[in-house]
Amino acid sequence: MKITMRLIIALLIAAAGVAALFSWLQAETDRELMEKELDTRANVLAEGFEEAMRSAVLAGDPDRLRSLIDRFGNRTRLIGLALFDSSGVELSSTASLQGGSPAVTALVYEAIVRDTAVSQFSMLGDRRVHLYARSIQTGTHATGTVLLAHDAAFMAERLTGIWYTNFFRLLVQIVLIILITIVVVRWSITGPIAQAAQWLRGLRAGRTAADQNLPRGDLLGPLGVEVSLLARSLAQARAAAQREARLRMTAEALWTPERLKEHVRNELKAQSLFVVSNREPFMHETVGSVTECIVPAGGLVTALDPILRACGGMWIAHGSGNADREHTGSDGTLRVPPDEPAYTLHRVFLTKEEEEGYYYGFSNEGIWPLCHITHTRPLFRKEDWQHYQLVNRKFADAVLRDIAGEEAPLVLIQDYHFALLPLLIKEQRPDARVAIFWHIPWPNPEVFGICPWKEEMLIGLLGADLIGFHTQFHCNNFLETVDRFLESKTNWEQFSVERNRDRTLVRPFPISVAFPDMPAAGDPASERKALLRVHGIDAAFLGVGVDRIDYTKGILERFLAVERFFELHPEYVGKFTFAQLGAPSRTHIKRYHDLGAELDAAVERINWRFQVRGWKAILYLKAHHNHETINRYYRAADVCLVTSLHDGMNLVAKEFVSARSDDGGVLIVSEFAGAVNELQDAIRVNPYDTEEVAGAIARALTMEEGERQLRMREMRSTVRERNVYRWAANLITGLARVRLPLPQPGSEGEKEPRHG
Ligand code: G6P
Repeated sequence: MKITMRLIIALLIAAAGVAALFSWLQAETDRELMEKELDTRANVLAEGFEEAMRSAVLAGDPDRLRSLIDRFGNRTRLIGLALFDSSGVELSSTASLQGGSPAVTALVYEAIVRDTAVSQFSMLGDRRVHLYARSIQTGTHATGTVLLAHDAAFMAERLTGIWYTNFFRLLVQIVLIILITIVVVRWSITGPIAQAAQWLRGLRAGRTAADQNLPRGDLLGPLGVEVSLLARSLAQARAAAQREARLRMTAEALWTPERLKEHVRNELKAQSLFVVSNREPFMHETVGSVTECIVPAGGLVTALDPILRACGGMWIAHGSGNADREHTGSDGTLRVPPDEPAYTLHRVFLTKEEEEGYYYGFSNEGIWPLCHITHTRPLFRKEDWQHYQLVNRKFADAVLRDIAGEEAPLVLIQDYHFALLPLLIKEQRPDARVAIFWHIPWPNPEVFGICPWKEEMLIGLLGADLIGFHTQFHCNNFLETVDRFLESKTNWEQFSVERNRDRTLVRPFPISVAFPDMPAAGDPASERKALLRVHGIDAAFLGVGVDRIDYTKGILERFLAVERFFELHPEYVGKFTFAQLGAPSRTHIKRYHDLGAELDAAVERINWRFQVRGWKAILYLKAHHNHETINRYYRAADVCLVTSLHDGMNLVAKEFVSARSDDGGVLIVSEFAGAVNELQDAIRVNPYDTEEVAGAIARALTMEEGERQLRMREMRSTVRERNVYRWAANLITGLARVRLPLPQPGSEGEKEPRHG
């Protein structure tokens, strides 16, 4: 029997039971009422007869008694009337009671003995009657007893009627309610679940379908969301398994999240992974009344989030979103990503002054321009430095608390915000393995030498067991800087620095992207049309640039090169549009604020200069764009411009390449971006050379399809192989295999502080 049938039968039985119970209760109440009514009626009648009866009994005249009985014995429903003397002997009665009955006799005696009115139901022949006996008083003694018999058969009929009417009415109502409920349940629950089941079945069978059939609304909506996430995980797991199988077949050894996970498990055994960075991977931001969880722009988050997703662990970062506090647990942590938690984010909160001095001041007005050769003067202020020290200590306390219960933990520190952190951690936990990865360039000693606190920064960094840069060139710059400013032993064979019995390895680890090997949806031409149509533009060719709005990215230089390109190739006016996706960044800093104004003015001027109806030379989209939107632009573009004036790596170049599964598109890369070393098939340019960049755009747009595809294929195979999982595996392996010095005798297992 199907479950729904069983449910219906059970509901019907329950409904019948409920209807019967309520009908019985109703009938009982009515019966009591009718009995009471008969009692009252008999009592009223007896009281009415009493005077006449008393005098007739006292007179003892049988004829008078007879005529009385006849006169009173014909009332409605009264079927018998009898008079008895004080000892219970019948004096006179209506025909129906003549001959008496044991019940009548017993009731009369009871009335005499108790000297009160009594009543009961009884059978008279085959008829149910209500008998009522009451003594007739004369002064203080009883003269006789009157007995009234009322017909009670009507009660049974009336009660049966009540019973049936109520029972059927209730039953019909309840059944109707059940039917309506079943219809609603089928429509809003069973139906959607059946559709979802069908969708899941399809998925299990390997058919990916849009999830518009999934339950929505308040009731099943949350379930629908979970099922959809589950399905996505399943699809990803299946894709990963297929990828693994494919790789095994082709004997390739590509790094995948699964392989990295396995590798990290083998390398770390029971050790845990802790990542520290200033920028957090997920930020809660409230704009108006809407709170969103956004993924901040920037290469660091792009690279590290896939690693933590694969390996788990803890990411300690500055909680900088304006709604972060409300979305963080009392212990400062939360599980992320919000829709598929895989690791813990520990948010460290800073005061306005700390953020101002440490982040905007020393990190971004001091170290950032110091390390990027873009001719922006670094600003070193004492208060900023003090805040930088204070915040590094604050993060050290947070990390030390988090690793307190861990044996030999691995701590991966990120970037220039935390030059002092490695030493602060190692001083307290010499058993921890600490690495710092410097995501930006390291300049030569002359340039670095202008920093008033260069020694302190170098000493802090050398607290790490391993320091990573994107390129060997930056490693060399660092070693030369240490050589120049610190008393230490630089080992150029091993690429390490020895100082105070401690050794720090300095190695290049070129960072990368996840390289999602997904086939592109739709063809680039129709994607381009669709993207531009939204902005009222029609163009046959599309160029794209994707950056944080930062002066190191060479965005202004790029716009000038686009302008020059139109001057040199007017045939492209009305045909080629350059779309610049720019994420506003560090806007409180004057240099960034000024840059914003410079870019706006340049775009306006160039667009005005080459004005054509329904077309624009530059489409400048200033916003925080999500990965999906960025990928659509990558896939639709004929050319992507990365014209950084100086850049550690630049992951936009690698993201563009990994998005082009159609082997289309041409990449133009600055010779001052780390990415140029690996992407040899890009068109290499000097971003300061406007003529060269303009020429590169023209070359990209006219490149033979064969050459274009060949170049893109080569670059794709490089990025595919050197993906971010490989980067993480190398970095983690390098760190996990670092040999820590043995504890010194007399130090009770602890090392002395490493630096004074
Ligand atoms: C660069 C830095 C990162 C930083 C990112 C975004 O890539 O190397 O450390 O997170 O820019 O900058 P922001 O200041 O917004 O964190």
